[in-house]
Amino acid sequence: MGQYLVKGLVEEGGHQLLAVGRGPSRLPAELAEGFKYYNTDITDGYAVEALVDAQGPDWVVHAAAMTQVDFCEQNRDLCFEVNVGGTENMLKAAEKSQSRFIYVSTDFIFDGVDGLYEEGHPPGPVNWYGSTKAQAEKLMADSSVAWAIARTCLVYGHGLGETRNNIVSWVKEKLEKGEPIKVVDDQVRTPTHVEDLAKGIIRMIQKSATGIYHLSGEDVLTPYQMALRTAAVFGLDSSLIEQVDASSFSQPARRPSRTGLRITKAKNELGFAPMGFEAALLKMYQK
Ligand SMILES: NC(=O)c1ccc[n+]([C@@H]2O[C@H](COP(=O)([O-])OP(=O)(O)OC[C@H]3O[C@@H](n4cnc5c(N)ncnc54)[C@H](OP(=O)(O)O)[C@@H]3O)[C@@H](O)[C@H]2O)c1
Repeated sequence: MGQYLVKGLVEEGGHQLLAVGRGPSRLPAELAEGFKYYNTDITDGYAVEALVDAQGPDWVVHAAAMTQVDFCEQNRDLCFEVNVGGTENMLKAAEKSQSRFIYVSTDFIFDGVDGLYEEGHPPGPVNWYGSTKAQAEKLMADSSVAWAIARTCLVYGHGLGETRNNIVSWVKEKLEKGEPIKVVDDQVRTPTHVEDLAKGIIRMIQKSATGIYHLSGEDVLTPYQMALRTAAVFGLDSSLIEQVDASSFSQPARRPSRTGLRITKAKNELGFAPMGFEAALLKMYQK
């Protein structure tokens, strides 16, 4: 997501943009003129504070997180240090420099019993990743910064540079190799195209939004349905896709069953207008 946010802000122009990541920049060279890059680990409170203090940004968008759900479950302390401790560091630094703050969060703060969810629904995470994201959200309430939270759900799209796989890129990669895949049909999400998410966050900046906003697609789909549509749009062999239930996997972290986000607030207040899932797949296919 961070890569597309940088791209969107470079293309919009008029910003002095500081991209922060771990290790060397993985952003595409053609954008390099548009931003400065800083290699900073968000768990290093001194480094974060020194950077934010020196630059005095108007806005801090905090999208860094440990996102691999099973790894988080098995490495709880590390996950807490990054997702909660790192957020605390970012928030403290933003407080000191009086920057506005956007925290990117997740549908995984919900229990998945009765989604789709509106912004005010109480959290009830079923795994450690979701728990750390919910704990980080709570830090906003005690902070003196002007804060906003952008919750999103199952992000997909082409990576701009080196990035992790997502549902669409994974299905495409496997089917292109002719490898069979098992995909769950008993979980529900509202998948979000990464460019829509970046646009939604840019709208939040433009509107100086505060409070919680849900930014996701509107199509309500199971991963199995997403896989079938991906195969259809990319002209791949859908007979390689096996429909399964979550119970057929033994994964370290439980997944919430029915999440997905209602985005009425973002549509009304931000003019957020995400693409449909198939339109977004077609866009990916044409690139
Ligand atoms: N992807 C989804 O489906 C999804 C759904 C809901 C919410 N979200 C939220 O959206 C945000 C962006 O996620 P994403 O999909 O872009 O995930 P991602 O591809 O895993 O990106 C997370 C980034 O955070 C960086 N990071 C991790 N630990 C760090 C640290 N200690 N210091 C500095 N950087 C660190 C990672 O760097 P490395 O690459 O070096 O690890 C990576 O660049 C996250 O807050 C996530 O919780 C994502």
